[in-house]
Amino acid sequence: MQYYLAPMEGITTYIYRSAHAKYFGGIDKYFTPFISDKNFITDKNSNKSLNAKELRDILPENNAGIALVPQVLTNNAKRFLAVAKEISSYGYDTVNLNLGCPSGTVTAKKRGAGFLSVPDELDAFLYEVYDKCPLKISVKTRLGVSDLSEWDNLLDIYAKYPVHELIIHTRLLKEFYTGDTHPEAYAKAVIRLQANDAAGNHSQIPLCYNGDIISAKSLEDAVTALNTDTRDSQNMTKSATIDCVMIGRGIIQNPALARQLPSSRSEHVISKEIWRAFHDEILSGYIKIMSGDSPSLFKMKDLWTYMSRSFTNSEKYLKRIRKANRISDYVNIVDGLFREQEIIV
Ligand SMILES: Cc1cc2nc3c(=O)[nH]c(=O)nc-3n(C[C@H](O)[C@H](O)[C@H](O)COP(=O)(O)O)c2cc1C
Repeated sequence: MQYYLAPMEGITTYIYRSAHAKYFGGIDKYFTPFISDKNFITDKNSNKSLNAKELRDILPENNAGIALVPQVLTNNAKRFLAVAKEISSYGYDTVNLNLGCPSGTVTAKKRGAGFLSVPDELDAFLYEVYDKCPLKISVKTRLGVSDLSEWDNLLDIYAKYPVHELIIHTRLLKEFYTGDTHPEAYAKAVIRLQANDAAGNHSQIPLCYNGDIISAKSLEDAVTALNTDTRDSQNMTKSATIDCVMIGRGIIQNPALARQLPSSRSEHVISKEIWRAFHDEILSGYIKIMSGDSPSLFKMKDLWTYMSRSFTNSEKYLKRIRKANRISDYVNIVDGLFREQEIIV
């Protein structure tokens, strides 16, 4: 089983990723949060597209020792190709296309999951980028915009291209991040994109499952659902499996999760000491690059939205953390949390 850390805007920065790899690990690939074409530098005299923050996030020296895939959010093939070229100049061999972001400002411009609403335009975009891009292109997609019936057509489109890897967030755009996932749609992708059948389909696109994996049990349930929900209706001759999982919120909540799941390379019992050292490294990383207390606190508060769920009495501490206006107050609260509370994952 391969485990990937999902890109999470504002959370899985290079500071988070490096600390995660150092203290927990178990991750085969990390992904940058999306690099949006909205922020690209458009100066005609410059052949650079990435702004300073995005560049810092992908610089090899900030990502030493980890396998990293930069992710791009655009629906413009020329801009995608320009940024991919720039990314390749830093030594990367793969770029990921974001077809999953459900945020209104992104989808209104038919980017992210909004691009799925115009499949013909998406097809033309993929034709051009797969034709001209010097890098391997992996895709992170949702199942469609508002109806699961859209998925078949999207699978037909993906099947036409040498997609390096298709990461499937098993939800529609309209479902944002909550409600049931649709593992049966993943099984459909296994059948359609990993086929070698009598009908002449020879597609072999590697797949990666994403959505609500927060424990060994949830992973087991997804694998079971894959087969029970699909087997009869799809004429499956063998069981569909999941051999790659991308995890977002589950890892932010429990950074040791990938090493606690089946077939990870090493077992990991999480300790408060390691978690504290991990936390302190992230905090000092932000303090170093951001001026004033507020921006660093903002980042840490976002993290605690998820991490607090792994501690006893989390609500009480989360409220206090969110109220902290100074780093010194924040550190006192976190001291108390680590001293007085227990880890429950
Ligand atoms: C706060 C937040 C930020 C996210 N940012 C990104 C992003 O930059 N790129 C992306 O492809 N997905 C992004 N996602 C989606 C996650 O990568 C992932 O697909 C989603 O959370 C479902 O996986 P999970 O249930 O394991 O968290 C974001 C999700 C959240 C909650």
